[in-house]
Amino acid sequence: MKIEKIKGFRDHYPEDMEIREYFFKKITDTAENFGYKRIDFPSLEPLDLYRLKSGTELVNQTFSFVDKGGREVTMIPEATPSTVRLLTARKDLPRPIRWYSFPKVWRYEEPQEGRFREHYQFNADMFGIDSEEIDAEIVGLASSILDYLGLSGVYEININDRFLMEYILNDLGIENIPEAFSIIDKYKKLDRASFSSMLNGIGAGEDVVKKILSLLSEKTDTGGLEKKVKKIVKNYDEIKPRVDRIKKTFELIGLYTESTINFDFSIVRGLSYYTGIVFEAFDVKGELRAILGGGRYNGLSKLFTDEEIPAVGFAIGDAVIELLLKRQDLWVKRNVKESYYICNLSSSDDEYILKIASRIRSLNKIALVDMTHRKISSQIKSASGCNYAIIIGDREVEENTVTVKNMETSEQSTVGYDDFLLHLRNRTS
Ligand code: HAM
Repeated sequence: MKIEKIKGFRDHYPEDMEIREYFFKKITDTAENFGYKRIDFPSLEPLDLYRLKSGTELVNQTFSFVDKGGREVTMIPEATPSTVRLLTARKDLPRPIRWYSFPKVWRYEEPQEGRFREHYQFNADMFGIDSEEIDAEIVGLASSILDYLGLSGVYEININDRFLMEYILNDLGIENIPEAFSIIDKYKKLDRASFSSMLNGIGAGEDVVKKILSLLSEKTDTGGLEKKVKKIVKNYDEIKPRVDRIKKTFELIGLYTESTINFDFSIVRGLSYYTGIVFEAFDVKGELRAILGGGRYNGLSKLFTDEEIPAVGFAIGDAVIELLLKRQDLWVKRNVKESYYICNLSSSDDEYILKIASRIRSLNKIALVDMTHRKISSQIKSASGCNYAIIIGDREVEENTVTVKNMETSEQSTVGYDDFLLHLRNRTS
């Protein structure tokens, strides 16, 4: 029997891992530079954690099972409920709180370009304040991460506001808001006729459907947003403060990034816990699935406590980012640490060689010792991915010297051990 890899799961070899790690660090560095601190949580949670607030679509996608103790558990499909559990379990934490995490998450989705059944998901969330400044910081952090990865100009962020959307839908006479959101979430996937008939199914007449379609039809700026809302609602003054808040949020986001930010009524997000701003980033060419998504979710804390804690955040999956970086030719290996390949030609003991290796490593550089006892040419060949080859034969051991070959220029020289240490230290400072 041939055992195969499970569909939708990925293997990662070292040559890719090095590049992934480099970009993962760029993401976490950016979050830390904004003052976000890392948290972590279990990969297995009770399924109920997602039943109440994440929505049926996500629950249907879980890798869930009944464990040996008869509990219904699931591999986490997202990080937000666990993050809120950590938050509410500690009353002593001074707010506002800025946290990030980088777990693997699992969703039983149809594997396709940029979508897998297991992926790494970077999350950033901010708790304790509900304001346009904080909404803007979260979108600003998301865009700063993409900018720092080298993707400026490659993406755009589309924003909507569930509070405003709910107001408009109510104003149009729609009562089942969760169902309306779930239909609007499918707007881009459905043809016009099926979309309209689904809206008819929740009591929207032809006139209302037309109005909703005119809202969703194209992205706009905040001026366009104001015009559209004025045109559609009965009493604009009632909702004006919310429109003003969105306008202010857009202005503030502009202070974090030069990237394109649109208002897009069709972004409502599949997860049901969002209560305010919602946003997603896409590649400007519109070829790929969402790069990231997030929003404000003030009510989720009620899963664990009576207190409603203001919350806003987003998550970036690694899959679409990787595709974009590859398309931009940025998915290349970078030698971050200096590396030394020690060719071992000595017939005596390894003491001298291991001493050199350990001095190199103590300066946070890479030292790799060839243990094959092959001929020099083969060992030098193996050194080709490193910055330097260090050649140690019987003569070097006897004379306390080191032969150093620069693998880029092929220059080679033999220096005393102390001079070699000096070379190492000079290259470190
Ligand atoms: P989400 O939109 O479901 O939001 O996922 C966020 C991002 O995770 C997506 O934009 C995408 O990059 C990535 N992603 C989702 N599913 C897959 C998949 N099957 N394969 C590869 N990548 C995927 C959330 O999960 C929210 N919890 C985000 C959030 C944090 N909201 C507030 N705080």
